Amino acid sequence: MEKSDYSVREGFDRAAPVLYSECLTSTNSVLKRLAADGAASGTVLWAREQTAGRGRLGRSFLSPEGGIYLSVLWRPGCPPEKTVSLTACAAAALCRWIEGYGLKPEIKWPNDVLLDGKKLSGILTEGFTAPDGGFSVVLGIGVNVNTESFPEELADTAVSLRMATGRIWELDGLARELIAQLDGMYRLWCAGPGAFLKEYRSRCTTTGHEVLLESGGLSIPARAVGINDDYSLAVETAGGERRDVRFGEVSVRMQH
Ligand code: BTN
Repeated sequence: MEKSDYSVREGFDRAAPVLYSECLTSTNSVLKRLAADGAASGTVLWAREQTAGRGRLGRSFLSPEGGIYLSVLWRPGCPPEKTVSLTACAAAALCRWIEGYGLKPEIKWPNDVLLDGKKLSGILTEGFTAPDGGFSVVLGIGVNVNTESFPEELADTAVSLRMATGRIWELDGLARELIAQLDGMYRLWCAGPGAFLKEYRSRCTTTGHEVLLESGGLSIPARAVGINDDYSLAVETAGGERRDVRFGEVSVRMQH
């Protein structure tokens, strides 16, 4: 059963609504349903807590109170393959947002945002064809904000703004800034998906590292050598073979 109590949040200077909820199952799941019912491009759904937050590759995403869980619907009107770059651009926009608070984020390819080498935020992008035949995207962002500690299995790899800075953050202001940053990013992306390429390359610290490409039970060691123009990851395997790794194809584990 999907929890879907939300209301329109006032005070945003944008065409599409920002919907707000204290607690939802998953903002991506609920917004996809609203999209099927005709929600406008740009609609945002923001929750303070999720009971069934979802991550990439079928994983769950821990979403306790104290974080920002936010999804945005876009109807870009272009073929699905062109929308892949949206996720990378959103990661760059997230970095701009976090940097605005004097912090130094970095991107782990394709779209994890790290602070001090630990995951602060993740992005899940889901594309689907609307009943009118147009392609739509729901891009969901989860940010660990005021979490004090993580369960054992995440303790070595996750961080929150509170843990990184030692202070409690006011969620409303943060979320408003994040939405403004995403709106600006989408405008730039519509003008040309390459708009963030230079920035993405400089922010992505996966390049130059040894990585493990994990897919279908196999784990292939490789070296990340660059970010291609379509934001895919260029790698070189131990045998010297060059490969381009695309979003969703493999899970990349960095070797330090
Ligand atoms: C990942 O790191 O694997 C992606 C995590 C994405 C989590 C966000 S939280 C808001 C939106 N709703 C979800 O159920 N997932 C995304």
